[in-house]
Amino acid sequence: MTVVRISDDALALACGAGAVAHAFAEAGSEIERVSSWGMHWLEPLVEIDGQGFGPVSPADVQAILAGHSDKAIGPIVQHPFIAGQQRLTFARAGRTRPLSLEDYAATGGWTALARARAMAPADVIAEVTGSGLRGRGGAGFPAGVKWQTVLAAAAPRKFVVCNADEGDSGTFADRMLMEGDPFQLIEGMAIAGHAVGAWQGFIYIRSEYPHAIAKLRAAISLAASQIAPFQIEVRVGAGAYVCGEETSLLNSIEGKRGEVRAKPPLPAIEGLFGCPTVVNNVLTLAAIPHILTDCGSSLYDSLGIDRSKGTMPIQLAGNIKHGGLFETAFGITLNDLIHGIGGGTASGRPVKAVQVGGPLGAYLHPSQFDLPFDYEAYSRANALIGHGGVVVFDDTANMGALARFAFQFCAAESCGKCTPCRIGSTRGVELIDRIRSGQHVPDLVAALPQMHNARNHARSREEELALLEDLCETMQYGSLCALGGFTPYPVRSALKHWPEDFA
Ligand SMILES: Cc1cc2nc3c(=O)[nH]c(=O)nc-3n(C[C@H](O)[C@H](O)[C@H](O)COP(=O)(O)O)c2cc1C
Ligand code: SF4
Repeated sequence: MTVVRISDDALALACGAGAVAHAFAEAGSEIERVSSWGMHWLEPLVEIDGQGFGPVSPADVQAILAGHSDKAIGPIVQHPFIAGQQRLTFARAGRTRPLSLEDYAATGGWTALARARAMAPADVIAEVTGSGLRGRGGAGFPAGVKWQTVLAAAAPRKFVVCNADEGDSGTFADRMLMEGDPFQLIEGMAIAGHAVGAWQGFIYIRSEYPHAIAKLRAAISLAASQIAPFQIEVRVGAGAYVCGEETSLLNSIEGKRGEVRAKPPLPAIEGLFGCPTVVNNVLTLAAIPHILTDCGSSLYDSLGIDRSKGTMPIQLAGNIKHGGLFETAFGITLNDLIHGIGGGTASGRPVKAVQVGGPLGAYLHPSQFDLPFDYEAYSRANALIGHGGVVVFDDTANMGALARFAFQFCAAESCGKCTPCRIGSTRGVELIDRIRSGQHVPDLVAALPQMHNARNHARSREEELALLEDLCETMQYGSLCALGGFTPYPVRSALKHWPEDFA
């Protein structure tokens, strides 16, 4: 019987993979639901004996089975999008059944946990530190240093918390990993537990990810005996962007309002329920099983450039022809990612801007597209790598409108704890509106009766721009967390490279 492999990942399902699987089953084929290869423009993607077909609809089924389909793309592993990657974290993507313990064990699963548990915790942490792994959630903090702090903290209870909130625009790698290879995350968390002395873990995930939640719960139950005495619980958040910030995430797990905590104390010292806590992103924890295999740490350290080690699962999204998951060693350029791998814009129009690192990331101009994907290189360019989201815009985008959106987003998502973010974001929207109107309209707040000390005449464009810079500086240096602190990045970059869009 013909075995047809089709992904049951949320994106594939949204593209119609369920109906395609049904049509193949009706035609007498055996169906295997596997994880997604990450070639999103080809979903629903079908694999038969290693040969790929996509995007497939139920109407294509007969031609595929008869061997004359125009949807054939050849051997999937030789497709340039897959062959050009260095997949470690996503090594199983497309190849295994997400909830099959058999597939997981047959592809090296659990060997790192067994090895780690035979080692002293300090030695496990030394390997994580030696790999150069930095947090993939956004800040790029060295994972080994964080683990060492938790290990060194004397406390009767400690926790491992996986940050699966994944709120950045254009990102989906955490979701793909949790839906496609949940045991890998579970193994990474169990290794972290052994390394720091924690016996309980939580995965904090947003309610917008129902497929990932179901897969995780099923996988945790299947793997319970494998990871015991370590235990994992899934906690579902309502999906507030700020609940991805680690301290408001901890508050949310504790049943409190998702409000950012002042640091210090660091979560590594006083985290969940006041106990020392490792908070790591899904991709950080999912990289751990590779690092803890024999020679895994030195292999990881040998990939990438400068202090950006290993591989990064980059997510190509927005107006791009070939969107999807591209895992590669650090150092790749946006030119290669967008024009080479991504095939340019989906609209066929010229690329105008690319936002890297989520809604708080800078807009990069095509003149910057040769910047290597590297935490420090991006930081020097006043940009962010963040969680590796790359969102492409064509020349119809208005950067003034996008700068306004940055303030608007911050106003909507602000936890409200500090003034620069809570008030500044709303003032920013008003200020950009005044600048873009070109009318030299007065500031409505300054015109309120109680504002008797404020100026009572409209500002010139130069004065408004100076005020905008002043506001950005106040938010950058005066905000308690990166939501308010990084909102100036998209605003300033848009104004710097596309001033004409603010006219
Ligand atoms: C507003 C805001 C939102 C964030 N959202 C996420 C998120 O969705 N996922 C994540 O892993 N980290 C997010 N972070 C970063 C976390 O605070 C924290 O740095 C991360 O969970 C640490 O894990 P890592 O070291 O493995 O990256 C966010 C930070 C801020 C300020
Ligand atoms: S910057 Fe914004 S989100 Fe962060 S603590 Fe202040 S008000 Fe809350």
